[in-house]
Amino acid sequence: MTNMSDPLSLSLRLKDATHTLHEDLDKSIMAHGLFSSAEKYKSFVQLQYLFHRDINDLYKHDQLLEIIPDLATRNRFAQVCQDMRDLNLPFPEAGSSICIQDASTAVGWLYVAEGSKLGANFLTKLVEKLGFTENFGGRHLAADPGGRGPSWNAFKSAIDLAGFDPVLATAGAKSGFMRVKNYMITSDTLISTSN
Ligand code: HEM
Repeated sequence: MTNMSDPLSLSLRLKDATHTLHEDLDKSIMAHGLFSSAEKYKSFVQLQYLFHRDINDLYKHDQLLEIIPDLATRNRFAQVCQDMRDLNLPFPEAGSSICIQDASTAVGWLYVAEGSKLGANFLTKLVEKLGFTENFGGRHLAADPGGRGPSWNAFKSAIDLAGFDPVLATAGAKSGFMRVKNYMITSDTLISTSN
């Protein structure tokens, strides 16, 4: 039977397979000082906008909605858009969500966004020092209504019990992390478009 400590559970396989990518991304974000000033934080919000625009449609995936009933309410795209408005940031040029039919691949991408809500607990403390909160500028970093831990555990339990293809899910998760990293690399150029 699958449980949260089962080393073969999908959530642990995804964590293990993306550990290095996550570490590399964390270090890059901090090395770029994206939480060191309000101006730099704007770059972070812009990269979050691009990533959450990419995955917006995945939160409406029919098959995944059956497995994760609260999937739609987990979507942070609206909050990121509002953070963009709070910070007076121009919306990047036209673009749309990626289209992924395969549920296993899609769940790998969603793992990246849902897991990032855990790290956001620490990031909210940094952005509060810059003057942003879950009511202004830092909305997308807020915890889900039931709390970060319970929300994450519910997501993990749902995906662990659903029988997704771990190889495809891992590929999706790696692609998600690499997408964010690519946006991070271009974040220096993003900020220059915000003035
Ligand atoms: C957009 C950027 C980020 C993404 C996509 C991301 C993604 C993730 C994911 C998927 C997890 C869950 C890992 C698991 O348990 O399976 C996670 C956890 C975590 N992240 Fe990040 N992360 C990001 C930025 C950061 C940053 C900048 C930091 C801190 C410097 C950070 C710190 C953490 C911490 C401490 C946890 C574990 C929290 C816990 O277990 O309670 N993350 N993140």
